[in-house]
Order: sequence, then C-alpha cells, then structure tokens
Amino acid sequence: MSDKIRIGLAGLGTVGATVAARLLQGAVPHAELVAVSARDANKQRGVDLSAADFVADPQELVSHHNVDVVVELIGGENGVALSLVEAALKKGKPVVTANKAMLAAHAAPLSELSVGGNVPLAFEAAVAGGIPVIKTVREGLAGNDIHRLCGILNGTCNYILSRMEVAGLSFDDALKEAQEKGFAEADPTLDVSGMDAGQKLAILSALAYGVAPDMDNISVTGIEAIMAADIAFAAEFDSVIRLVGLAERSGYGIYHSVEPVLVKRKHPLAQVVNELNAVSISAMPLGEIMLQGPGAGGGATASAVLADVSDIASGFGRPLFDSTVAAMKESASKNAPASEFYIRLALADQPGSMAKATQILAENGVSIEEVVQRSSEAGDSHLPVVFITHQTEKAALTSALSALEQQSEICNSVLALPVFVDEV
Ligand SMILES: NC(=O)c1ccc[n+]([C@@H]2O[C@H](COP(=O)([O-])OP(=O)(O)OC[C@H]3O[C@@H](n4cnc5c(N)ncnc54)[C@H](OP(=O)(O)O)[C@@H]3O)[C@@H](O)[C@H]2O)c1
Repeated sequence: MSDKIRIGLAGLGTVGATVAARLLQGAVPHAELVAVSARDANKQRGVDLSAADFVADPQELVSHHNVDVVVELIGGENGVALSLVEAALKKGKPVVTANKAMLAAHAAPLSELSVGGNVPLAFEAAVAGGIPVIKTVREGLAGNDIHRLCGILNGTCNYILSRMEVAGLSFDDALKEAQEKGFAEADPTLDVSGMDAGQKLAILSALAYGVAPDMDNISVTGIEAIMAADIAFAAEFDSVIRLVGLAERSGYGIYHSVEPVLVKRKHPLAQVVNELNAVSISAMPLGEIMLQGPGAGGGATASAVLADVSDIASGFGRPLFDSTVAAMKESASKNAPASEFYIRLALADQPGSMAKATQILAENGVSIEEVVQRSSEAGDSHLPVVFITHQTEKAALTSALSALEQQSEICNSVLALPVFVDEV
C-alpha cells in the first residue's frame, strides 16, 4: 500500500484542472491523485487524467475504497457540492474545499460534522484565493486579539473600479471588459452586489472572532451605483473608491460591512489594483499587517487548495473552526461606527436648491466639511454636487438621505459612501 494520502477530486474546471495537474506532477510529495469526477468524462482539460479513476457521480468518491481525502471543487451553495462534503465528513474522510458560498450558508451543520466528528475540513481557497489569510489568522496570529480586519475580497469589483479609475470607463464598460478577460462571470450578480465578499467576510470573522456566520449580520452594498463621476470626484479628494469588507470589534460586538468606500490614495488599500485582493489585520500585540495577492483564478486558487492538501497529508489538517458554530459566543453588532461620508447628488439648476439641500443635511445633524459643485453646461437641468461630511452617525446620515430623496423636485441620484479612515 502507498504511504501517500490518496485524493479524490470532484470538479475539473478552472481550479480543479490546475489542482489535478499539480498533483499529477508530484507537487505535494505525500499526496497522489487517484480518482476524479466531473459532469463530462470526455472534455479536454489540458491534463492527462488517465492515471486516475473517473467516476460519473462525485458521491462515489466517498465510498471509493482508494480515496482518503475528498477535494470539492464543483461549487454552488447547495446541491451536489454540499451533499458530497456532508457525506465525506460523515464517513470521517477529510475534505478540502474552495466553496465560500457553501461554507457561509451551511457553516452550522458543517461545523457539527467537522468539529463534532473531529474531521478536517480545510478551506484556505475559499477566502482571498491564493492569499494565505486563513492560515495567517488561524496560526500566525494565534496569540493575538484581532481588533479590525478589513480588505478587498472581490477581484471582479476591484478590477471594475480600477478600470473606471485608470481608463475612465463607465461601470458597464468596465464590467464588459472584466467579463472578456475572464475576471467576471457571465452572471456577475454575486460579485458586483457585494454578496461574494460578504460570504468571505462571514467565514473570516468566524475564524478571527468566533462570530457565527450569518449574512443577515453583514451590511452589504455593491458597486452597481458607482458612476464615472464618483471616481472623478474621489480623485479631487485625492482618493479612490474600493469595495471594502470590514469586521471590527466595538463595544457592542463585531460590526460587519461590505461597501464601496473612499480610500485616500496614499493608503495601502488604494494601491491594490485590478483583480488583486488584500487583507489588512490589526491585532494586539502584533500591530497591523497587510497581505496582498491574486484573489482568484485557476493558479492562485489551486495554490491554496494544494496547501490544504499538503497540511492534511502531513497530519496538520484541522476541523472547520475551533468550535462548532452553535458554541460560538461572540455577538455581532449592527451599530455602524461613525464616519465621514461622501454624499453625491444631482441638484436642480435653480436658485435655492443648494440652500435647501444643506438645510436638510443640517436639520438631520449632518455637518458639512467640504462641497464640490460642477458648473452647468447648456441643457443640464441638474448639476452634480458632492458633500464631504464631518464625523456623522449612520442613523443621522440615513435620515438625511431619506429626507433628500423626498425632495425630488430639487435633487435625485443620491449616493453616500463612507470615507475610510485608517486607525494607524
Ligand atoms: N475560479 C476561481 O477563480 C475561484 C476562486 C476562488 C474560489 N473558487 C471556488 O472554487 C470552486 C470551483 O470553481 P471553478 O471556477 O473551478 O468552477 P468551474 O470552472 O465552473 O468548474 C466546476 C467543475 O465542477 C464540475 N461539476 C459541476 N457539476 C457537477 C456535477 N453535478 N457532478 C460532477 N461534477 C460537476 C464541472 O464539470 P464539467 O467540467 O464536466 O462541466 C467542472 O469541472 C467554486 O466553489 C468556486 O467558488 C473559484
């Protein structure tokens, strides 16, 4: 019998085919690929898989007498991937997955099976692709108290925002370009809505703070409403716009958000461009660190999967979390920290509109630090105006925005973004 751990791989797509190729090349010395599964047995995948058994039904990998570890790279929140992972854990077979959607939605039952049964369930590839952030939080920062964790967790959104900034593209054109280059799915909804970044944040937060993953605890706003004008206004404030996921400790618990924010150009997150991801972590006694790298793609994601396979082959596999989700005690808070805000609106080009808008902001407790107004061009009925506020409570901002939106005769297209302030 081989002294290598025997891998059954489900899914031979973008990530799976690269994982298969690397395993067959002997990239993980103590692991060998013995069986694979995909929908189409005859599809050319750029790798010679004849040394591995092909099974049509991925569930057969669980009962396969030669398979010790199941690698799930099919994807999807439910369905085949979930039933495969559950069956493997029930049978005591360690699992490696890149499937953040499944983990975020089913963390509680999967933790019962993995933590309860002490069966490794490794998921480095599920968050920030090739960046080893799970290992960093779990092992590298083991003796720290994490205070704040934030980052760029979605390469599609970052690519779109970067291209709007550098090439002056509209949101639609930048999305189209991202799709053509393979950085965005044909259906980009999960990415541009911020949900994908939210799923990753939920998983990271469970690990970093012990908060039960729950998408309802995360305030999620996507990038669909960002216009080329916002990118240009941000530049006037020496800033760029990034979709930032944040999980931060406060007196009320851990606050979670995923939203587009204004980031000063000199901040390290502003330097993270195109499809790259980055995670910044503030911890005590460590201080602050930032990890940056490719957050998606076959090679980067396979790198993280292979690291998990290597850990399991070396006897270092760990269950999903350190406790079951049911035993996680840290609470989530919905109280957003006070922030400065960027408020953009289109104001009717008529006397009194600016006075009315500023009056509404003042009446709702929003005080203005800066105003930028574009001059009118022939035929414009509305002018874009941007306010930068002083520190403002979210509740005050929300009531001011809703009051502004009711003044449809003087303004429309209202958008507010927090201004990201680094604590260091
Ligand atoms: N791609 C990335 O950059 C990236 C980054 C981070 C995480 N991930 C995660 O990695 C996982 C895989 O992503 P991917 O991009 O590699 O997906 P993909 O290219 O769509 O590949 C999916 C694979 O699953 C197989 N499959 C689908 N349904 C199946 C079924 N019922 N039975 C057996 N096989 C089935 C497909 O078979 P056929 O090839 O025969 O159709 C295909 O080989 C997902 O959880 C994803 O979220 C991906």
